[in-house]
Amino acid sequence: MISNGSSKTVVKLNVNGENRDVMIRSADTLLHTLREQLGLTGAKRACENGDCGACTVLINGEPMHSCLSLAIETIDQPITTIESLMGSPIQRIFVEKWAIQCGFCTPGFILNCHALANKHPNADDDVIEEWMQSNLCRCTGYQEIKDAVKASLQAGNQA
Ligand code: FES
Ligand code: FES
Repeated sequence: MISNGSSKTVVKLNVNGENRDVMIRSADTLLHTLREQLGLTGAKRACENGDCGACTVLINGEPMHSCLSLAIETIDQPITTIESLMGSPIQRIFVEKWAIQCGFCTPGFILNCHALANKHPNADDDVIEEWMQSNLCRCTGYQEIKDAVKASLQAGNQA
């Protein structure tokens, strides 16, 4: 950790399997750092108070709202953003199931679904419902999103 003499400090964050240098203030959120320092804009800035899930990333494999996570607290913890799932089967399933309209909420839902598949590959409807409650969508139907999540779990279990 290197301080530049002002209130900013250079730290390394492990993002999508790479160690990246970022210059942060102690109060910078992970969302701000990913977007403004690393150009990873897949995590969306929306409510910024933990209500919508558009900013979801995985920290140590757990879906977290990056608007409520301090970047400095994520040093030495693997961070996964939607950019690492580009072209992935789960992304294709969301497209095939029409679970995307404007797409603003989609990175958060896909990352949440990815974590669910890793932790609860046999999740039933109730678990899926509960798991997805942390994310809001303003335009597509939740049914399409649930269908995509189910199809993704089934595909993973058949692989
Ligand atoms: S922007 Fe983080 S929960 Fe809404
Ligand atoms: S697809 Fe537009 S907010 Fe979800």
